[in-house]
Amino acid sequence: MSRPLIIAIDGPSGAGKSTLGRMLARELNLLYIDTGSMYRAVALAVMESSVSSNDDVAVGSLAAQVSIDLRGDPDSMEVTLEGGDVTEAIRSEEVTHLSSIISAIPEVRRAMVERQREMGKRGAVLNGRDIGTVVFPNADVKFFLTAVPEERAKRRFVEEHAQDSSVSFDETFADMSERDQRDATRADSPLATAQDAVVIDSTGLSVNEVFERMMVVIRERLENTKS
Ligand code: DC
Repeated sequence: MSRPLIIAIDGPSGAGKSTLGRMLARELNLLYIDTGSMYRAVALAVMESSVSSNDDVAVGSLAAQVSIDLRGDPDSMEVTLEGGDVTEAIRSEEVTHLSSIISAIPEVRRAMVERQREMGKRGAVLNGRDIGTVVFPNADVKFFLTAVPEERAKRRFVEEHAQDSSVSFDETFADMSERDQRDATRADSPLATAQDAVVIDSTGLSVNEVFERMMVVIRERLENTKS
């Protein structure tokens, strides 16, 4: 293909976007951009600054100024904030919660979307909530990955429990539901299925089965664009 390949993966939390995004990027030799980690880095920047998370204007201008970088290959991606490694820090519960709140601020979204377009312009697999609808509406292939809430919460619980054994499944489930509700109902770029997205429900499927389904779609699309 002459022009860079853009693969968009959107969907709610716990649907498997990161795992599958990494696998596809590796298989297709593309850059992997986890856009959620960028909103998480902004949330951490807010927490570490004197800016109040309720001050949309101040949070927006912080997002526009702060330096965020995603480095490394898909399997060992490092996220930096002002040059410091925050890969682990952005996975805390507090950051998870705040990232969902600050990502509803239009100025924050504008700043991130601009960076994501720049980062992805030479070809990438991007995952998030608005990739196929807003960031790259002309993406070559768009996926909307989902699964029933219980299964998504189970996957999240396994990750969270490994970090903090006091977390209960009910807490994970409630947090995830609240976050998904907020991400899907905000006014600016809510989580939505692009009308030309291929929807994959991963409930009951193994990671490899989902990967194979996605690769079938990508190969078909590439064949069609060749002819
Ligand atoms: O995918 P994640 O859980 O790491 O994302 C963290 C938060 O960032 C999530 O609550 C929604 C938000 N987000 C977004 O609004 N748009 C994106 N493209 C990616 C994430």
